[in-house]
Amino acid sequence: MMIRFLFALTVFLGYNLILHAQNPNDLWLQQHSAKAVNVQYRSKSPLVLNAVKALKQYWQGKEGANISLKLVKSTAIKAEGYQISGNTISATTDRGLLYGAYAMLRAQISDENVAALVSNPSYENRILNHWDNLDGSVERGYAGKSIFWRGEGDLTVSKADLDRWKKYAEANASIGINGSVLNNVNASAKMLSAPVLQRVKAIAAVLRPYGIKTYLSVNFSSPTMLRDLKTADPLNADVIAWWHKKVAEIYKEIPDFGGFLVKANSEGQPGPQDFGRTHADGANMLADALKPYGGLVMWRAFVYSPSNEDRAKQAYQEFVPLDGKFRDNVIIQVKNGPIDFQPREPFSPLFGAMQHSSVMPEFQVTQEYLGHAYQVAFLAPMWEECLNSDTYQKGEGSTVAKVTDGTLFSQKHSAIAGVANTGLDSNWSGYTLGQANWYAFGRLAWDNQLKSDQIADEWLKLTFKQQAQPDLIQDWNKNFLQPVKNILLESREAVVNYSMPLGLHHIFAAHHHFGPGPWWAPKNARPDWTPPYYHQTDSLGIGFDRTPSGSNATSQYHQPLADVFNSPDTCPEMYLLWFHHLPWTYQTKSGRSLWDELCFRYDKGLQQVRNFQKVWDKTSLYTSAEVYEETQAVLKRQTFDAQVYKDACLLYFQQFSKMPIPHELERPVFDLKALESGDPLDFYPQEK
Ligand code: GCU
Repeated sequence: MMIRFLFALTVFLGYNLILHAQNPNDLWLQQHSAKAVNVQYRSKSPLVLNAVKALKQYWQGKEGANISLKLVKSTAIKAEGYQISGNTISATTDRGLLYGAYAMLRAQISDENVAALVSNPSYENRILNHWDNLDGSVERGYAGKSIFWRGEGDLTVSKADLDRWKKYAEANASIGINGSVLNNVNASAKMLSAPVLQRVKAIAAVLRPYGIKTYLSVNFSSPTMLRDLKTADPLNADVIAWWHKKVAEIYKEIPDFGGFLVKANSEGQPGPQDFGRTHADGANMLADALKPYGGLVMWRAFVYSPSNEDRAKQAYQEFVPLDGKFRDNVIIQVKNGPIDFQPREPFSPLFGAMQHSSVMPEFQVTQEYLGHAYQVAFLAPMWEECLNSDTYQKGEGSTVAKVTDGTLFSQKHSAIAGVANTGLDSNWSGYTLGQANWYAFGRLAWDNQLKSDQIADEWLKLTFKQQAQPDLIQDWNKNFLQPVKNILLESREAVVNYSMPLGLHHIFAAHHHFGPGPWWAPKNARPDWTPPYYHQTDSLGIGFDRTPSGSNATSQYHQPLADVFNSPDTCPEMYLLWFHHLPWTYQTKSGRSLWDELCFRYDKGLQQVRNFQKVWDKTSLYTSAEVYEETQAVLKRQTFDAQVYKDACLLYFQQFSKMPIPHELERPVFDLKALESGDPLDFYPQEK
């Protein structure tokens, strides 16, 4: 009896130890019983001191090891790269030493082999874009309010602000992110007002010692919105002088300011076209103002208007004719796909097509169309798919990675951006597994050839392994790492299956983009903001014809891709309905009719999530009760949502196909009318 009691007590205490060991706030940097380490270093710069501090704070290598940080001259080690050889970290810059230190620390827990290696970043600028508003809200943010802003009336910098920004900076540095855009691309002109710039200065001061430059999104009409001028025409002398003065003001406060991100003539935002000027006129005017200080302009190519032209074609049409006309400190920022961060898109045809301009990919880390923070979706496979897509622009092997990182075209600057998923939530990302997406973005920005498997492996080990109880560590790989990694790696494909299989796209509920809305088309709505514009369903079939018989968007892709996409026989099935309108009876690769295949895919997505639930339920001993229950709740919600998607889309499309749902599949459980009349975000039964 006594023995049984003692055993129960040990289990109880052990479990509580795990519970307390995990502070979600720590992200992947955990501070469990660091071992002693001696660090030799010369430079006393804040960057190097932070490298030393990190080594001492997180060291899990040999007790009492002697590590030296050395600045060297080397052509093999690029500006921010590093070399690790035994116990020596060498770099040509202090930033390189900081990244080398973190690489060594990561390797101690993730078993990465860094005993002898040189590592250089794929992109010179690795930037998070925060869509944070001055009032503290975050556009498409699902992790609480902004970590930077609380409202115009509250710009004072508190101790809590400083602590949070420091943690944020440290997390970014640990994965190589070296830039942060602090505000929404739908930018308020007030960001450039003097009191706000003081807060920007305070944030920059915290980020700087971690190698992170600060950038701002700017509203193109700032001179008029701040009531200083009557025009924002980029060729007007007063406007030019206004921006030069504003830029000088910013650099006086923040000498290493990174530059501007601009969303212009897009979704109602002002821009140079309002004055009959081009994107190049607008971008160059800002670039000239920034040039003396080394600042950059990241000019977004996310443009489209409600015309008769296929939305997927418009960015290419507007930007390719301007290739070569941009200043060398302008980078054109291009979303991964030609529409808008859908769970799956073919790559944007702009990649590789603008060979005389610097072009950077923009990924979305926050899960706008992938279930917000209610659904598990690990995004590395999506980004890996994009980076490895072959554009053929300079022959076979001209991947998106190679046409943007300087390998194939001599871009003056290389960069990559991720729309952040951070907020004030104690787990930073809305749900704990969502932190993996922040981590993955940083790792891929550093090395665009990394595999999702390795990234998931690293993140899981760094985040969870140190908490495992000693008697469970032996089976940790088998019982936690492998199964949870499988969930992560499969999760994005599951989302695709239950929300937009076979290349369907933009059939999400209106406005908040959560849940299905294939029917949504109010009379006065812009057609290109309604799902029927994209799925084009009729009694004959489904899908958007982008071949020469339709919008001919395929012609924007380099051969042989245009031909490959043009024929439904050669078009990869994952893009089938992106490029083709096909009859319901069209025979897919499985031998099933298109209708049956759609039914199978929707159902498969649902089954995948149900399976994630079963797998996760077995992991209770390996994580804190908090994370365990939180993830359980997310997967429960996701299962519900997948069922809603499946039923809504199949029952809606069935009205056109008039074909039965294959009998071997589970029947719908919801009623179409109920789904159509409810807001998907409210549809989930509230917990009592
Ligand atoms: C999407 C998103 C908007 C965002 C826009 C952009 O359309 O829904 O919230 O402003 O992308 O990237 O500019």
